[in-house]
Amino acid sequence: MAELVLDVRNLSVEYSGGVQAVSDVSFDLERGECFALVGESGCGKSTTARAIMRLIQSPGRIASGEVIFEGQDLLKLSNKEMTAVRGNRIGMIFQNPLDSLNPVYTSGYQIAEGLVVDKMEKSEAWKLAGEVMHDVKIPDPEKRLKSYPHEISGGMRQRVMIGMMLCRHPGILIADEPTTALDVTIQAGIIDLMNDLRHEYDTCVLLITHDFGIVADMADRVGVMYAGKIVEMGDVFQIFDEPRHPYTKLLMKALPVITKKEGRLETIPGSVPDLTQEIKGCRFADRCPIAEAICREQDPKMLEVGHDHFCACHMVKGGDLK
Ligand SMILES: Nc1ncnc2c1ncn2[C@@H]1O[C@H](COP(=O)(O)OP(=O)(O)OP(=O)(O)O)[C@@H](O)[C@H]1O
Ligand SMILES: [Mg+2]
Repeated sequence: MAELVLDVRNLSVEYSGGVQAVSDVSFDLERGECFALVGESGCGKSTTARAIMRLIQSPGRIASGEVIFEGQDLLKLSNKEMTAVRGNRIGMIFQNPLDSLNPVYTSGYQIAEGLVVDKMEKSEAWKLAGEVMHDVKIPDPEKRLKSYPHEISGGMRQRVMIGMMLCRHPGILIADEPTTALDVTIQAGIIDLMNDLRHEYDTCVLLITHDFGIVADMADRVGVMYAGKIVEMGDVFQIFDEPRHPYTKLLMKALPVITKKEGRLETIPGSVPDLTQEIKGCRFADRCPIAEAICREQDPKMLEVGHDHFCACHMVKGGDLK
């Protein structure tokens, strides 16, 4: 049986003002697997990632749930224990690598520093940093080791970040919109690189993106979030080819199709519900084209609608669309 690396159970996160940013989210990740969280802006993707890393700042708080990583519940660790897990066992790449790279140290120093923290000799760490720069396909790696973050391009910085994270062999890499700030050609290179390194190191990836092209290139399984909840989850083919939840179906319809020569992109009418108010019934009911009375009364449960394919919708029952 595949090894479970991360098991997020019933995670809920609240921000000040009673914002229920994440409600009862559960998913897991097996060794080597890439799981993508997708959904409209504000649906709670980044909050889920930050909660796993325990980076929710007060007055925000993790209201409930468990985050079992490599067999231990991260939510029960002391701050000191959690600091050791962060960066070392869990790597994180953000949209803008300048936020995470330190402007006053060279790229090489920053890669080597992490390895020294992991108890590697300085000379060996520096040598490995050179290999990492080579692995992440940075041109002229020897020279670039001595460059400061502002001296290299955005794409190269993101490569440095990826190398810095993966050379410490984390159990999981969390990539939150890793390529959003980059142009399309550089984006493709970064995705290829993450895929290559992920397979080489057998690292699992929690990918957060609103770009379905990237999901198709990288993800094995997908969780579709809507207003703080996962409403559908399945493998990438199930989600793309046989979506069951009306929200996923509309999201798929809203995707630009290259072969479509004319016409406007479809949009999903309405907007995401106010997360400060208690939501009665299904949170998608107001925008849903097939909602019935029950949808405004009861919150739908996640049901298995196919092999390892789950959907929370009153109108989707026993594997058949009603
Ligand atoms: N620090 C914060 N304090 C209060 N509310 C917040 C905070 N951070 C996020 N939120 C709210 O929590 C909800 C979820 O936000 P989150 O950033 O997790 O969404 P997201 O899915 O990552 O969106 P995007 O695609 O735009 O990055 C939103 O309603 C957002 O306004
Ligand atoms: Mg986000």
